[in-house]
Amino acid sequence: MNTINNVPNQIFIFDTTLRDGEQSPGASMNLEEKLGIAELLEEMGVDVIEAGFPIASNGDFEAVNEVARIVKESVICGLARSARGDIERAADALKPARRSRIHTFISTSPLHMKYKLRMEPEEVFQAVIDSVSYARNFTDDVEWSPEDGSRTDFDFLCRTVEAAIKAGATTINIPDTVGYSVPKEFGALISGLIDRVPNIDKAIVSTHCHNDLGLAVANSLAGIVSGARQVECTINGLGERAGNAALEEIVMALRTRQDKIPYITNIDTTCITRASRMVSSVTGFAVQPNKAIVGANAFAHESGIHQDGMLKHAETYEIMTPESVGLSQSKLIMGKHSGRHAFRVKLEELGYNLGDNAVQEAFRRFKELADKKKDVYDEDIVALVDDEVQRNNDAIQFGSLRVVCGSEGPQTATLSLLVDGLSYEVTSDGDGPVDATFNAIKEIVPHFANLQLYQVHAVTEGTDAQAEVSVRLEEKGKTVTGRGTDTDTLVASARAYVNALNKLVEKRNKTAPGAISA
Ligand code: KIV
Ligand code: ZN
Repeated sequence: MNTINNVPNQIFIFDTTLRDGEQSPGASMNLEEKLGIAELLEEMGVDVIEAGFPIASNGDFEAVNEVARIVKESVICGLARSARGDIERAADALKPARRSRIHTFISTSPLHMKYKLRMEPEEVFQAVIDSVSYARNFTDDVEWSPEDGSRTDFDFLCRTVEAAIKAGATTINIPDTVGYSVPKEFGALISGLIDRVPNIDKAIVSTHCHNDLGLAVANSLAGIVSGARQVECTINGLGERAGNAALEEIVMALRTRQDKIPYITNIDTTCITRASRMVSSVTGFAVQPNKAIVGANAFAHESGIHQDGMLKHAETYEIMTPESVGLSQSKLIMGKHSGRHAFRVKLEELGYNLGDNAVQEAFRRFKELADKKKDVYDEDIVALVDDEVQRNNDAIQFGSLRVVCGSEGPQTATLSLLVDGLSYEVTSDGDGPVDATFNAIKEIVPHFANLQLYQVHAVTEGTDAQAEVSVRLEEKGKTVTGRGTDTDTLVASARAYVNALNKLVEKRNKTAPGAISA
């Protein structure tokens, strides 16, 4: 019962960074970024990638469709409400997939049925049967979720789960949609279902826990111990409100505490750091320094007592190695004398597999950086390459920037941009150099987008560190996040703003039937 391929302790990792994660306000990603993340999730060994909610927008449809085309190993999943139109759209988007899954859901809690759906429980019950059996016309891999499952009447939950399995669902996912459960309770819910539903052995039971009380990972682990064999999670715990259960925390907890929670996953944990950085950089959602597993301080030992212990024996203060999550001590130190070959090897060491032109351009920027900065760290190269890759096809390109600032004012920015191949230069002033720079951009590319976020973070230590700037713009309910890096914070700011504008232009070109979220 609830085993995968007859391996009783195998856990499937279902990643929903691209769907539930992207639903987080301000975390929207463009197609290229989603494909990059999907490729890395596949490389990591994620079993199921939920790539989007195809009915929600043309962008979501395209993303699911493209991910389904390029990813070969993982199962690709598309979300659908219980309506036939949703299910057909998901099935269409998933057509190119080698292995596809339709994930259909409907709310089952009294609150949701009464106020959100305005449906009677018996109507919901019938919708479960109709939607699952309809989805089975398109694929034999159908997942069903009772939204707000943890606040659903237990008898009704058991009836709907049994009916969903009878209609053909092969995975039953139990969401703690509002992050209300506590571990003992959530574990009991999973074991209760497994005990009570007569045909439960025909499906894999899954958890989907939100983090409103900071318990998403603990609840997911309680679910596993109670018999769940799939966990839904996101990189960095990205997701609506307080987010979803963090993939890296679940996987590393299972790996590190085999003595107490002896379950295995297919995840190559050495990809974790790279995935975390990629998701953070694409969304502009910084990872808190003390975040478990992927925070900048997760493996840093600063106090004298700890350092002394570490030097005597690493296990005194380290329960897992930095290498196990892909934080390795670099073998190649880069500087201004490093050549093209060493740079290419370094890129491979950092997990990049770029084409010749991209390597060429990244190498040119690396040389520029090495001239300005004594030590070039791995983090510098990651920031530089991520910056380069995203700007390849931009219609608006940063040219140059000269800023006059300081206590005497007025602060002015003279900026040049290349727009569709034509060069423009203006001088603008503002309340400070950043404002002056952004005003100059607005003068060249007039627009009505609102600035929602302006965030600067130093890529490494030292006053010569590169600044990585994130800029979030909002226009008519659509948000985009741009980023830019440079040793000059104002140049990085201009690059980030320009990058966000390019994404906005790209978004405007795609029509959306209206925002829908799960
Ligand atoms: O949180 C939730 O209930 C969901 C469902 C769509 C599975 O995301
Ligand atoms: Zn969710």
